[in-house]
Amino acid sequence: MELHQVLHMKGGDDISSYAKNSSFALEKHGLGGRDRPLPGTCFISAVPGSFYGRLFPDNSINFFHSSQSLHWLSQVPAKLMTDSGLSLNKGNVHIGETSPLTVRDAYWEQFKSDFTTFLRMRAIEMAPQGRMFFTLCTDTPGSVGFLYLDQTLNDMVKEGIIEEKALDGFNIPMYEPTMEEMRWIIEEEGSFEVNQIEIFPWDKDDHGINNMDEDLLRETYVRITRAVFGSIIGSHFGEGIMDDLFRRLANNISECVDIANRIQDSLAVSLVKKN
Ligand SMILES: C[S@@+](CC[C@H](N)C(=O)[O-])C[C@H]1O[C@@H](n2cnc3c(N)ncnc32)[C@H](O)[C@@H]1O
Repeated sequence: MELHQVLHMKGGDDISSYAKNSSFALEKHGLGGRDRPLPGTCFISAVPGSFYGRLFPDNSINFFHSSQSLHWLSQVPAKLMTDSGLSLNKGNVHIGETSPLTVRDAYWEQFKSDFTTFLRMRAIEMAPQGRMFFTLCTDTPGSVGFLYLDQTLNDMVKEGIIEEKALDGFNIPMYEPTMEEMRWIIEEEGSFEVNQIEIFPWDKDDHGINNMDEDLLRETYVRITRAVFGSIIGSHFGEGIMDDLFRRLANNISECVDIANRIQDSLAVSLVKKN
């Protein structure tokens, strides 16, 4: 747990650098304010590669943990465009209220394939009876999701700031499975026994949400959205629109009521590798 706290990413100060962003680096370089000693003896190393490929030697891992990352897909689902290049997900950057079922299916197919690959790779790398624990975002009815980002980008298309075809070609490569979908893939893949799966909401104490008024919470939401999605939005639409886009997003989200209760939940999943 202590190690988790030391390595945990800080909320959006510098998304581009995990190492710079960790309190470990802050403490090591004397930049941080937190008075916490490093945990006992541990060896920290970075492994290059994607968790959808091989990362570690065969049979070498007793415990594997991933935090809030596995909802990222390996690619944008292929079937979001027709063969002639028309968008099936017009006006949405993800599975939105107006997305047809084919879009939801395309995202689900991509997640199924990616997550099955993830489990297969870890199954080779983990020792028998090895344990895995991970958290990731889950489908949360009533959450804010991408509603206000969709609205903002569509406004910018109407005003001619963004080209319609640029928005048509932009879909966020992320999928938030339900608990049932998660269980189904794990059982179907077959290498792991489910020990426990739970849905958990944002820890409002941990993130200071309990002490924030609604305005500050909306501002925080915009900052987090920029930290998480800024780089893919900027590389697709161009860095030049970024300040304008996030100013507009802040304006649009000011209409959102009860935001504290509209934040996405997560799944916590505990698995044991079969013999
Ligand atoms: C929201 S951050 C979570 C960071 C940290 N684990 C935490 O809990 O604070 C999501 C991370 O997933 C990483 N990520 C996304 N797709 C990945 C992949 N295919 N392989 C490895 N890392 C990936 C991103 O680079 C990013 O650092």
